[in-house]
Amino acid sequence: MCGIVGYIGKRNAVDVMLQGLSKLEYRGYDSSGIAIVQGSEVLVNKAEGKLVNLQNKIEDLHLESSIGIGHTRWATHGRPSDYNAHPHTSQNGKFAVVHNGIVENYLRLKETYLADEVFTSETDTEVVAHLLEKFYNGSFEETVVKVLDVLEGAYALVMICADESDKIIACRKDSPMVLGIGDGESFIASDVPALLAYTRECMYIEQGELCVLTQDGITIKNHALEVIDKEVHTIEWDAEAAEKDGYEHFMLKEIFEQPTVFKKTIAGRIHGGEVQFDFDLSAEQVNSWNKIYIVACGTAYHAGLVGKAVIEKLARIPVEVEIASEFRYREPMLDEHTLVIVISQSGETADTVAALREAKKNGCKVMAVTNVVGSAIARESDYVIYIWAGPEISVASTKAYTTMLIAEYLLGVYLAQQKGMDNGALRAEILEGLQHLPDIAETMLTDAYLEQIQKAAEGYKDANDIFFIGRGLDWAIALEGSLKLKEISYIHAEAYAAGELKHGTLALVTDETPVIAICVQDATYDKIASNIKEVKAREANVLAIINEGDEETQKFVDETIAIPRIHNFVAPVLAVIPLQLISYYTAKVRGCEIDQPRNLAKSVTVE
Ligand code: G6P
Repeated sequence: MCGIVGYIGKRNAVDVMLQGLSKLEYRGYDSSGIAIVQGSEVLVNKAEGKLVNLQNKIEDLHLESSIGIGHTRWATHGRPSDYNAHPHTSQNGKFAVVHNGIVENYLRLKETYLADEVFTSETDTEVVAHLLEKFYNGSFEETVVKVLDVLEGAYALVMICADESDKIIACRKDSPMVLGIGDGESFIASDVPALLAYTRECMYIEQGELCVLTQDGITIKNHALEVIDKEVHTIEWDAEAAEKDGYEHFMLKEIFEQPTVFKKTIAGRIHGGEVQFDFDLSAEQVNSWNKIYIVACGTAYHAGLVGKAVIEKLARIPVEVEIASEFRYREPMLDEHTLVIVISQSGETADTVAALREAKKNGCKVMAVTNVVGSAIARESDYVIYIWAGPEISVASTKAYTTMLIAEYLLGVYLAQQKGMDNGALRAEILEGLQHLPDIAETMLTDAYLEQIQKAAEGYKDANDIFFIGRGLDWAIALEGSLKLKEISYIHAEAYAAGELKHGTLALVTDETPVIAICVQDATYDKIASNIKEVKAREANVLAIINEGDEETQKFVDETIAIPRIHNFVAPVLAVIPLQLISYYTAKVRGCEIDQPRNLAKSVTVE
């Protein structure tokens, strides 16, 4: 949600910013802008729409500077437009600011401090630039501290001052940012992919810290402007991992990466038939938890629904799955006997971070399942399970979802094993299934398979509504399949527990509402078969996701797509892959913007 890049050093800051912003466009893409210092002036260029509009706008200007800040926006306050795009400047044009987050008290700040000033945008951010001018006392650093003292809300702020053009100042509260250390140059960005082309050395900024970036290095200070020592981390991701690598879209590339990343999620975690993580939980600790909450948003929430089934079956601990934005406002019953598991690809989703803090405040231990090392969620949790999916750039999540499921299977086995439960045989079968997953997934992604799915997707080109149905674990992935389709093809889709259809929604089923039925789980096969017949009787066209060799279902549906046979319990990881591909090809045939769907952003750092 909004991408920020800042650079100071020996290169042309304009090139570094444009390159960095192109890697962060998944965070927001309704407008973009850059500010540089030239002489004693701050020069700003902005453009509504995708980054390419900004690139085209400045192409002939041949801008050069050793310092600059840039931004790609996902609108919160004020519609997408040139004038609402960041950077925003002070009235005297000496300060420029880029911001990710929301300044909640901006109207009050305007009234209190800036009543006579003229604003050129509808944003909350512009207030920060005006306050910098208002409070300026000849020291940029001291002025930033004064401004921070009056701000409320969440922010990652990066600022420059024309009169002190040897530095960039940055700070954050609840919005992510990472610092990149170079030789004779310093970088700051909302996320690691913007840094990968330049450096592997990075530092993470904690809440309330002030970062001063100069050509000679980065100094981190506390609120009293005393210097703080900071650990330097090495970024492990490959630069290529954040490139399309010949694929038409990141989404397709990420779907294809799944067999490889499955191996990474599992690697080093199964030893002698047992699961090990970086943390060690005693039987006493696990037995002290009489309840688990899984809290997450979007796709991660859907992963949580599978996690509930897995943990309840294996470890026999009751699990509730909650949408993070609801969780903290309904006073959940939390205490030291509750484990809260937060799931988040980015590790930065504001609602999930807020839920985590609510849990900690109530004495719960918190476990994170996340992709991003050093993210807020990873840092603030007691135990962390990394999914090791590598950078996921497409807004619609695919490989993060499936690796979240794998992490949950490992966790379910681990909790049961630590509790000393007598279901060793089932645990062994699941671990065996997991170990076969990467190779089996690899066999699915053939040209013939893709062609078959592409053809099915063409049939959905003009659909207005599509229903996904399933039971048990098949229902959980039906929910994810329908979200994927909505997100990128803009077709209205709903997922239903198939048995529930007849209690109302069946009224909507006609020959114009295609149904995608997931019928992979043996235990509920007879039931879903009846439910499919109910929708067939209402003339719906039915595509079924089936297990290889299932000849029965083929007799009563219009079309089938098979997944290889694997342990039923692990099958959701495979069964969701054709659903991801159906969404992808449907969006493609409808000419949609696949990697950057309208109105959405990958990392949602506002509540
Ligand atoms: C956004 C993304 C979704 C994602 C959700 C949660 O809405 O568009 O794809 O599932 O945030 O993100 P997280 O990073 O917490 O998993």
